[in-house]
Amino acid sequence: MLGKIFTSTTARTFSRQAFQQTRNASTQASKTKLSRGEIALGIASALAGGAAGVQLMNPVHADAAADGLHPAAYPWAQNSPFSTFEHDSIRRGYQVYREVCAACHSLDRIAFRNLVGVSHTEEEAKAMAEECEYTDGPDDQGEMFQRPGKLSDYMPKPYPNEEAARAANGGAYPPDLSLIVKARHGGADYIFSLLTGYVDPPCRC
Ligand code: HEC
Repeated sequence: MLGKIFTSTTARTFSRQAFQQTRNASTQASKTKLSRGEIALGIASALAGGAAGVQLMNPVHADAAADGLHPAAYPWAQNSPFSTFEHDSIRRGYQVYREVCAACHSLDRIAFRNLVGVSHTEEEAKAMAEECEYTDGPDDQGEMFQRPGKLSDYMPKPYPNEEAARAANGGAYPPDLSLIVKARHGGADYIFSLLTGYVDPPCRC
């Protein structure tokens, strides 16, 4: 359904120029409030970077956009053979994932250690891991116990299982975002367009 909304609105309206402005503006993002485009740019980069980080190929593509318009092609830094991901964007994207998307979406294949040297320093990643609680054990009494997270722990999930996720989202399942860029036609272009593609409905709807 999200794919359908995107195909009918975004591809036609979002221009390359707007994207360029977003990129320029994003260099000051740490000082200023983030715009919707900047946030989306960061997330799309972060998700693309995360997918590359675990180096797994997922040949199965969902077909949400296959029978509609294709997203516009954006000049991502990582598209050039001589450059790589923008680390500032990965860092911003992770922050937005944590503050917004993590309420519904898991990031199962990414551990806190994967952030070290990519988007965060080791101390920062450790501190973020420690803010999360993990069940571990059993201890010598045979009891499971809670402990603060470590670098080797994977990102905490928002829901214990798929049924709980669907129940909380009107039956729809928020997919895991670890490999989402590889799992959609158009990759980062698709994700960016999806995130920036919502517009107010025409009046009297
Ligand atoms: C309130 C819960 C919620 C939040 C918060 C949320 N999502 Fe989702 N998202 C969903 C659900 C539910 C679906 C599945 C929709 C469907 O299957 O129709 C989904 C689907 C998606 C998809 C797949 C779309 C497709 O075409 O297949 C992507 C990508 C996505 N979300 C990214 C994000 C990102 C990035 C954020 C944070 C900026 C985010 N979501 C925040 C609930 C959420």
